[in-house]
Amino acid sequence: MGNNESMSKLIISGGLPLQGELRASGAKNAVLPILAATLLADAPMTIGNVPHLQDVTTTMELLGQMGVELVVDERMNIQVDPRTIHTFHAPYELVRTMRASILVLGPLLARFGQAEVSLPGGCAIGSRPVNLHIKGLEAMGATIKVENGYIRARAERLKGAHIALDLVTVTGTENLLMAATLARGTTIIENAAREPEVVDLADCLNAMGARISGAGTDTLVIEGIDRLGGANYQVLPDRIETATYLLAGAITGGRVKVKGTRPDTLEAVLLKMEEAGIRVNTGPDWIEVDMAGNRPKAVRIRTAPYPAFPTDMQAQFVALNAVAEGVGMITETVFENRFMHVQELHRMGAQIELEGNTAISIGIPRLTGAPVMATDLRASASLILAALVADGDTVVDRIYHIDRGYDCIEEKLAQLGARIRRTPG
Ligand code: EPZ
Repeated sequence: MGNNESMSKLIISGGLPLQGELRASGAKNAVLPILAATLLADAPMTIGNVPHLQDVTTTMELLGQMGVELVVDERMNIQVDPRTIHTFHAPYELVRTMRASILVLGPLLARFGQAEVSLPGGCAIGSRPVNLHIKGLEAMGATIKVENGYIRARAERLKGAHIALDLVTVTGTENLLMAATLARGTTIIENAAREPEVVDLADCLNAMGARISGAGTDTLVIEGIDRLGGANYQVLPDRIETATYLLAGAITGGRVKVKGTRPDTLEAVLLKMEEAGIRVNTGPDWIEVDMAGNRPKAVRIRTAPYPAFPTDMQAQFVALNAVAEGVGMITETVFENRFMHVQELHRMGAQIELEGNTAISIGIPRLTGAPVMATDLRASASLILAALVADGDTVVDRIYHIDRGYDCIEEKLAQLGARIRRTPG
C-alpha cells in the first residue's frame, strides 16, 4: 500500500437520511479460507463473487509468492492454478498485515506435508492466539515447532483424529477442516464454529470432492481422501457488510435495501434491529430497513459465536445505541479489547461508559462531527455510521482499516445519498 494511501482519510457530512438500494459483495470471511483451500487441489479452479478488498489482494500476493498462478478477470472472478506451487512459506511481512494468512497452514500441511507460517502476532482487538489451530494439527499427527516467530510444521501424512475444541474458533475450525480433507481416515471436530462462512468453505471443499458432513452444526465429520480436484465456486454474500449498510439506513432515519444477500445468515441481527424499532422486510435474497424518520430505541446485546449475535456487528450497534432513545448495554464476549471505537465516539459527543466488557450508553438525538481515528475494521465502520448521523463534518483517519473489509465503501454510501469523499494523504 503506497504511503499516501495509508494516510488517506474519509470526510463525511452528516445529517441526511440515506435512501436507496445496493448489492452485497462476496463475504470477506468466506473468500479468505476458500482461497487458502485452493492449495488442497491438484487441478485449476475458479472462485466467483470475490469482493474487491485489500485482504483479498494480500491473500493473492501470499499465494502468488508460493508459486500459485492466479488470474483475476474484470468481474473479479479468480482463476487459481495451484499446480505450480514451489514454496510452503508465509512470511512475517505479509502475515502481520493480515492474520487470516494463518489459513494456509492446514492446507499446506495436508497437501505437501510441510508449512512454515509466521505467527500472526496480536492485533488491536485482542491477543488472538492460534494455539487451538496448532493443538488440532498435532492431534492429526503433525510435528510443530514454534520458533523465531514462525510455526514450522511437518507431517508425513496427517491422520484422522477426534478433536474437541476448547472454545469456538472460526479460523481454527476452518484450518482443521481443510487439513482433515486429505488426512488418512476420519476426523471429528467437536465444538466447531457454525458461522455461515464455515459452511461456505465446507460446501466449496465438497464441490472439490471432499467428504464433509455436519457443516453448520457444532460437530463436523470429515472422511479423509487422497486428492481434491478443482471446482467453480461462488462465494456467499457478506452478512456483515449487508448489516452495516442496513444500519446506515436505520441510524440516519432513512430507508435502505440490500440485494443479492442472505437474510437467513442474519437472523440474530435482524431481530435486534426490530427490537430497536427498525422496520425490517426480507425476501429470498434481499433485506430492506425503513426507519421512516424515527429515532431508534436503545437495545441490549451480548455477542457470542454463531448463531448468536456476531461480534463483527458490535461496534456498529454501539454507534446506533449512541443516538437511540434510552439506555443501551452491549457486552463483548469474544474479543478482550474490541471497544476502541468508544473513545472515538466520545469525541463526537456520545455518552458511553465502559464497565469491563460492557458498553453502557445513554442515547442522545444527534452527535457532532469531529476528527476521529479508525483502529480496526469494524470500529471504522461504527465511526462512519456515527458520522452519517452527526451534525457537521467528520474526518475519519487511518481508513486503510476500512478498505480491508468494505468494498468501495464511499461509492456504496454515496449511492444511498451520503455526502462522503476520500482525500489523499
Ligand atoms: C474470525 O476471526 C473472523 N475473521 C473475525 O472477523 C471474527 O471477528 C471472528 O472470527 C469471530 O467471529 C476471519 O474469519 C478471517 P476466532 P478468528 O478464532 O477466527 C480465541 C472481521 O472483522 N482463540 O473465532 O481469528 C480468540 O482469541 C474479523 O472480519 C484462541 O484463544 O476468531 C478469540 O478470543 C475480525 N485460540 C476467540 O477465540 C485459538 O487458537 C474467537 O476467535 C483461536 C482463537
